[in-house]
Order: sequence, then C-alpha cells, then structure tokens
Amino acid sequence: MSIQYHAERKCFYLDGKDVTYAFRLFEKHPEHLYYGKKIPHEDLNHLHITGALSTGWIAFGEEETCPRCHLQSELITYGRGDYREPCVQVQNAAGDRLSEPLYVGHEILPEKPRMKGLPSMAGGETLVVHLRDDLTGFEVDLYYTVYDDCDVIARRAVYRNAGNDTKFLRRAYSFTLPLRGNNYDILSLHGAWVRERRMETIPMHHGVVSIDSKKHSSSDELNPFMGVLTRGSDEHHGNVYGVSLVYSSSYVLKAEGTMNDQTILTGGVNDFDFTWKLEPGEEFETPEVVIAFSSEGLGGMSRAFHDAYRNHLINPRFVRKSRPIVINNWEGTYFDFNFEKLKAIIDGVEGTGIDTFVLDDGWFGENRVDEKTGLGDWHIVNQNKLPGGLKPLADYIHSKGMKFGLWFEPENVGPDSDLNRTHPDFAIRVEGRKPGLGRWTMSLDLTRKDVRDYLVETVNRVIRENDIDYVKWDYNRCVTDPYSLGLPADRQAEFAYRYALGVYDLFERIINANPDVIFEGCAGGGSRFDPAVLHYFPQIWTSDNSDAEERTLIQYGTSIVYPLSSMSCHVSDIPHHNTNRTPSMATRAAIAHLGATGYELDASKFTDEIRAEVAGYNAEYRACEDLILNGDLYRLDNPMESPFFTYLIVSKDKNEAVLVAYRGLDRLGNPSHEYLLRGLDPNKNYRVEELDKTMSGAVLMNAGIYLRFAHYDFTFKKFHIKAVD
Ligand code: GLA
Repeated sequence: MSIQYHAERKCFYLDGKDVTYAFRLFEKHPEHLYYGKKIPHEDLNHLHITGALSTGWIAFGEEETCPRCHLQSELITYGRGDYREPCVQVQNAAGDRLSEPLYVGHEILPEKPRMKGLPSMAGGETLVVHLRDDLTGFEVDLYYTVYDDCDVIARRAVYRNAGNDTKFLRRAYSFTLPLRGNNYDILSLHGAWVRERRMETIPMHHGVVSIDSKKHSSSDELNPFMGVLTRGSDEHHGNVYGVSLVYSSSYVLKAEGTMNDQTILTGGVNDFDFTWKLEPGEEFETPEVVIAFSSEGLGGMSRAFHDAYRNHLINPRFVRKSRPIVINNWEGTYFDFNFEKLKAIIDGVEGTGIDTFVLDDGWFGENRVDEKTGLGDWHIVNQNKLPGGLKPLADYIHSKGMKFGLWFEPENVGPDSDLNRTHPDFAIRVEGRKPGLGRWTMSLDLTRKDVRDYLVETVNRVIRENDIDYVKWDYNRCVTDPYSLGLPADRQAEFAYRYALGVYDLFERIINANPDVIFEGCAGGGSRFDPAVLHYFPQIWTSDNSDAEERTLIQYGTSIVYPLSSMSCHVSDIPHHNTNRTPSMATRAAIAHLGATGYELDASKFTDEIRAEVAGYNAEYRACEDLILNGDLYRLDNPMESPFFTYLIVSKDKNEAVLVAYRGLDRLGNPSHEYLLRGLDPNKNYRVEELDKTMSGAVLMNAGIYLRFAHYDFTFKKFHIKAVD
C-alpha cells in the first residue's frame, strides 16, 4: 500500500519510489504538510503554519485569527478571506462567486480510473478526496496518484455541479501545492521556431510568477513546465520540484510568493478567455499535472520525469521498442520532387541501415508546389509529381525492405483547397471577419464532431490504402479567431478546452485504427512538445533546426522534462540551411543519434564512401539504442553555459554506459576538459574501450577522465563503458 490514511491524525501519506506526500484534514480543509524525500509516517502536525497579520485578517467565528486564510491548503478558493491564487472560482445562480468545499469523504483506489477525454498517466494507486459546499452543491474531487517506480505525484481535480441551478466555472485549475518557504528559483523553458526550449531561471519573489499559453497549443514560447529549484541547487545537488502539465491547449502555471514567505504552486487550463457552463449533474475534468521531486538536483528531477513518462504515459507498444532510422526528403527536395527523384533518394541509402523512407509535405492536392495551396486535400495525390499515386512508391519502398512514412497536417486547411471549397464552414472563423492565416492556412474546428469524422475517415483511408507504416503528423499554426459554429453563445468561452478534447479525440481515433503504425508528432518544428502529445506519439520532431550545434541547446533543454526516446533528431545537409555551419557528418550523427534518429537530406548524392560512413554511424546507433531508449541520463555539461555539451547515459542495471562529449566552438585557451562520471556502481570495474583501460566506478566518478579535443569547431568524443568481472 503506497497510500495510507491515519484516522487519528486525519493524515494522508502517499509514497512514491523515493518521495512522500502528506496532508491532513484541518477543520475539514485539506492542509498540505509535506512533499519531498521519502520519510516515515510520523506525526507531522507541527508543520501547520499560521499566517501573518494584515488588513486581510478575517474571522468567521470566535477565533482571533482566520485559521484558513493562510492555510497550506490543497485547494485554495476565493472570497472567504484567502487572497492567494485560487485554484477554482465558480459563479452561482445568484451571481456570487464564492465556494467553500469541505471534506466529506475519501477513497483509495488500487488503480487510477481513466480520464474521459484527456490523456493522462496510466495506472497507479490513487486517493480521491471528496469535498462539498453544502450551501451551493458545488463538489470537488481531488485526485492523487503515486507510483512505486518513479518520484512523481500526479494530481488533478474534478469539479461537479451537484446543486439545482446552473453554475459557471470562471477558473478551473488542476491543483494547489503549497511549498515550504520561498527560497526558490523558477525555471522555465521558453523559445521560438528553431530555438525551442531554452532554459531561463529567475529568482522567486513576493507576488506571482506566471507562464502560460493563449495559443490553443502548448507552443514553443513556453513549455507547460515549471521548475522550482531550491536556491543553491544545481544539476546534481539540491531539492528540486518540477511541474509538468499533461495538456496541449491554452494553459497557465503559477508560483506565488505569499506574505508569510511561502510558495504556492497552481495552474492548469488557462482561465483567460475561459468560462465553463456547468449544468446540474455535470462535471468538469481538469488536465493532469505531474509533479516530480528530486533531492539530486535538476538532473534527478529530469530522470524522475523520464521514468514516469516512459513507464506510464507514452504508448507501451512503442516506448521501449527499437525505432526506425528514417530518411526524410524535406530538406533534400522541399516541394520539388517526383517519383524518379524519390526513387534516387531511396536507392541512395541502400546498405546504410536506414530502414524507413518518409515522404514529407507536397505529395497531395492538385497543385501543391508551395505552402499556399492544397492543404487538407489528403484525398488527392499530386498527379504532376506522382502520376501513379502513392501505391507505386509504397510498393517500391517495400520491395527494398524499407518502411513507408507519410506526412500529414490534418488539423489545418488551406483556403485554396478542395476541402475548403466543399466545406467552407469547417475552418474556424467568426462570421463577417476574414480569418487569420498562419503559414497560409486556417485551423479546422475540431470542437465539431462532423469535422473530426471527416478527417478520421480521410486520413485513415490514405493510411490503409497505401500500406503506410509511419506517419509524421504536423501542425504548423496556432488557432486564431476562436469561435465555433457548433457552440451556443454562452458556451463560446469553452472553446479552448473543447478544442483540446477534439484534438485528442482525433489523435485517438486515427492512432487506434492503425495500431502498428508509428506516429511522430511535429508542429512547425518542436512547437507542441508536451506530455499530452507524447501520450499519443512516442516521438516528436524536436525542432526544424537540426544544425548540430543548435541541436545541443535544443535537445538539452528538451531533456529537462522529456526522455531522449521522445526526441526525433536528424542529420541534415551542410552548409546547414538555417545556420550555414559545416560540422562533419560524424559530429552531426553523434548529436542526432541521441534520440529517435534519421537523416534529412538528398541521399541520392551519397557516394559509396559516404554510404559506408553512414552505415557505420547507424550500426553504432543500434548498438547504443537500448541505452538511449531506456537508460538514465546524466547531463555533465550545459551548452547554454559553456562550449561543452556532455551526456552520460547509464543502463538501469549500471552495467553499461555511453559518454558523448561534444565541444562546440574551439576556445584554444582551454583545450582539455574534466569529466566526473555519475550513476555508475562504485564497486564495479568498467572497461572503457576507447581508453583501452579498466577502472572502477569509484575512480571514474571521483577521479574522472580528462579529454583533449581536436583544434577545430564542433567536435566530439564518444566512450563506451562496460562492466567487467
Ligand atoms: C514543418 C515541419 C518540417 C516540414 C515542413 C513541411 O515546418 O516542421 O519538418 O515537415 O513543415 O511543410
């Protein structure tokens, strides 16, 4: 039993692998006591915090201070003397916006029930705490799930109208988590196209630190993640929390520094442009938030997320399985291809170990020669480029023993397309306004079932009729003009959440109909890299920027939350199309092979020599693939802080490891660099092939190794480390 209730203390104790979460009932309010390293189930009532006095001092009875105004509450509500960020605000029929849900009972379930329309982590022992406001009939269920193989707690709330009148949720966040003290720094992952998930740390202060998206997609601007780092902690040391939201539409995450020097975390569905009508008997389900804790710094927090997402979030059919090594034609041809050109690319990779050909944008529609036409016309294969349709290409690929991947962008539609001409009402728009175009397309109204039905039928038919083995699912714009013809006026502010439900329904119905097809997520590069998408797509295109140097930054930032197996990373041509840099093929492969991998270039130009070189890199990738998919990641150098980027990946049994040490710009003053290894068994002996030496784990971790890099930019060294008897 990982969840226990101590009736006398009225205290709940929830244990993960090495974490404990504890809260108790204080006058029927759930009062947070502790989240951190695993501790025994002792009396924690001394952790009750009383508030500072201020003009906000409110009493409801004979008390001298308001015990609940500063309570470390598991659910902050508004209007009764608590002025901190509320988790929920509901408007009742009378127009008042008050609620005071109090404990009425709880259940401990051996397995978390599946959520209705939202993706979430699977399984896990779950505590459900039932709260109710007797005056209004507003009910709240707080869900807590723990896992014995990872250091996270999954939380969410369900809001129910058990009253007799219509209510409106004006805010419906997923959780409140009060943390001790305010000695924290806040880490976010911000970015833009070709510059995804850069790390930014700011000091926690009094007031609210907020990150959000209003884009109806999680976006590359700010990933739905917030790190809360105890000041002084670093990559390897110190207490670190991470909050990761399993949701892809408009969201918000907040950390509030309060007057009594505490830190309250909260967030979920963005309450900007949000109101939800809750009729009697109806429920509103909030997205799940996964909160990791590690006493081993940021690296420990990342490993907690990697384990949690590999073990419980990502499709078990694919998560640990060997991945395709793809050749994608996008950067090789862009829109300018025909059957012969593609055939030459396919022939070009023969004998290299590349096993999947992915045909990117441009194969569909009557005249798709650029981004401006035909998007959405999946039912038409471009006759100028592929006069015989897709089947001859599929057959050719399969005859070579390779798999066939195909690009789609199902969620959007071009104005100049058959789809838009036949169904002009499918695109999101407000009557009388010209809809905003993003990359010359409009967003489809996925809140509508008829629109989704059309897409499911059309995309599934293409996959089925052409023996597609792999799908690259792109999404190249964010929603504007949020409005649905399918919703009444008083439900239009439900659009962003309903859009998310529509997206997930679409994913689910297409992916479930094609269980053997591997789906790769993509969004104009890596602009929808979030846990909800990962639930459906075991790998996501990390960025349109695959310059090796830039990729060290992007992949490092992405690894803060997401496992290496989730990152799709390709070797591109040189000079690189974004940066003009010219790192060697060996360097490009070393960086691109730290994830799900492939090539994105015109392989028809491969010489026999290059083919042999590529075959070598791919064999090397396959030899390390199990580590990459399943190992523990130790980040030894942060390329955002130095020219070095170093990953050490250690197998779970500590018998094997690979060290990839990259040095970007050649700063001649400092050509050698120390590496202290981590995560090995100090008592085991390890053979380091490239050093032709056997050393104990203790020596490798404490004395370490020194490396001297070649005197040119963008170089790397790789070490294979194996336990020996
Ligand atoms: C997006 C993707 C690219 C490519 C193009 C095609 O930008 O990120 O990889 O598929 O679309 O239009």
